[in-house]
Order: sequence, then C-alpha cells, then structure tokens
Amino acid sequence: MLTETRLHPDDLVLPLFFNEALDSVRYTGSMPGVPTYPLSDAEKVAERLHSSGINAVLLFGIPGHKDPEGSGAYSADGVVQKAIRKIEASSDLLVIADLCMCEYTDHGHCGIMSGGGVDNDLTLAQYGKIAKSLADAGAHMVAPSGMMDGQVLRIREALDGSGHRDIPIMAYSSKFCSSFYGPFRDIAHSAPSVCGREAYQMNPANGREAMSEIQRDIEEGADIIMVKPAMPYLDVIRQAKSEFRIPIAAYQVSGEYAMIKAAAANGWLDERRTMMESLISIKRAGADILITYFAEDILKELVR
Ligand code: PBG
Repeated sequence: MLTETRLHPDDLVLPLFFNEALDSVRYTGSMPGVPTYPLSDAEKVAERLHSSGINAVLLFGIPGHKDPEGSGAYSADGVVQKAIRKIEASSDLLVIADLCMCEYTDHGHCGIMSGGGVDNDLTLAQYGKIAKSLADAGAHMVAPSGMMDGQVLRIREALDGSGHRDIPIMAYSSKFCSSFYGPFRDIAHSAPSVCGREAYQMNPANGREAMSEIQRDIEEGADIIMVKPAMPYLDVIRQAKSEFRIPIAAYQVSGEYAMIKAAAANGWLDERRTMMESLISIKRAGADILITYFAEDILKELVR
C-alpha cells in the first residue's frame, strides 16, 4: 500500500536489432543476452515477444552495405523497412523506429560529413527522407536520435507532407555524449571512425542546456521527449518532469545494462534486484516510458 512507484508492462520498450547480413541469431560479447536477429526471424520474434507481454519495440537496423550518405537508412528495401513490414504482419506490437544514420554510414557518424565534420543542414534533408521511408514501411512512431539542430521540425514536415500526419515523434531531446553507448556500437558497428560525437551530442556537464534542448524539441513538434542515458542523468529526468507537461521517456542504455550484467556474472551484484532497483529509480525520477534491454526479464518479475 505504501509503495509509491511500481513498474508496469505498459512502461516498457524493448530495443531490437536486425542485421541484414545474418542468417542466424548472433550475440555480442559486451551485451550478454541481447540478440541481433536475422530478418528471417522477424515474424517469429515479434509473435513471441507480443505473446510474452511486450507491447512496444524500438527498432535498429544494421545494413549489409554502408556508404558515406547512409543511403540504406531510407531505402524502401532497407533492413529496418523490411523488419517493420514483417513485424506488422505478425503481431500487434507498437513499432517505434529509431531514426539515425550512424548504423548506415561507413564513417559511423549520425549525419553527412563535410569539411571534416557533420553538416547539420545537409543531414536534415536525409532525416526527412528517412522519416518518410520508415512511415511508408508502417512504423507507428519515429524516434530521431541523431541530435541535429532542427531535426524534429524537419521530420514533422516530412511526415505531414507525405500523408503521415498521425505518426508521433519521440525525440531523443537530451542525448548526452556518453561513454555508456560503447556496447551498442559493438552491436551496430557504428563507432565513429574519426573524432567523437561531441559536436552534436550534449556535454554531460550541462543540465540547464538539456532543458533548452527539450523545450526547443517541444516547440518543433515532439510528442514525447527522451533523456539518455538514464541512471547517470536522473536529475535531468526529474527536472524535465517538473518543467514540462509532456510524456518523458528514459533510455537505460547499453553501458548501463552491461555494467549490471558484468557485475552479476562475477557474483558482485544480485542481477534481479539490481535490475528492478535501477528501473524503479528511473521511473521514480519521473520517466513515464522505460526503454531497456531488460524489458523481457522485468516482465517475468512482474508476473511472479
Ligand atoms: C544512434 C543511437 C545510439 C544509441 C541509440 N541510438 C548510439 C550512439 O549515439 O552512438 C545508443 C543506445 C545504447 O547505448 O543502448 N545515434
């Protein structure tokens, strides 16, 4: 009766990886228990997840071929576009498509490179194309994670202009330039080959700037905003909750997951209890939506 915060299956979003080049499921050393699926598994996986109680997935694709323009990200036959169609055909999962270029570019950056850096405005044009292509394939929501200035407005315009006025945008509004993304980059083969992402992701020291990033995204048309990573930024989640009247998602990222897994594998932490405590804390700080690689394991705890 006195418990103030509870996890619920409806809170959870499970990230899912599809790799076009695979013909069987593959595991990555730094992300124990997180599979990368071949496209041929998509229907089966969607059915299984939905019947186990997962409601929503966040899709990432690893293309067979990468190029400087990340053209695989907006191809009608791209890896994520194919995965979306298969998942839609076989389940009632809510399908959220991550919208970025770093998995698709050969240099690993989240946009078009020019003059030694990422060109914000050239990249916006690509994001518009990607948004249209993901919505055409049947995505129910898009989640831009590239941190280009003006991306939410540009994507809103691209969606509205292509008959997708009802597709919401979950904006990675305050995405910090974090070391906690390391294991994700192992899965997605998306570590930048030259320089880091400091020019477009946020300085971890800046909580006030995070509020202005969020405000700008809301003004541009974001329907849900996100704070990422989650546990090192609980203060940012809390502040966003008190300043804004909009749903807040928090992404417990790959490094947060990997730390718990590694400590548990060594017998240093109790995995089940640490997992539950980490997510309860993120929700207590103010997150309405929890994106986590633990989603299936949490469901098992909730039905105990
Ligand atoms: C793509 C993207 C990244 C993550 C989600 N979308 C990687 C990055 O910014 O390098 C990280 C997710 C995770 O670490 O779990 N821009």
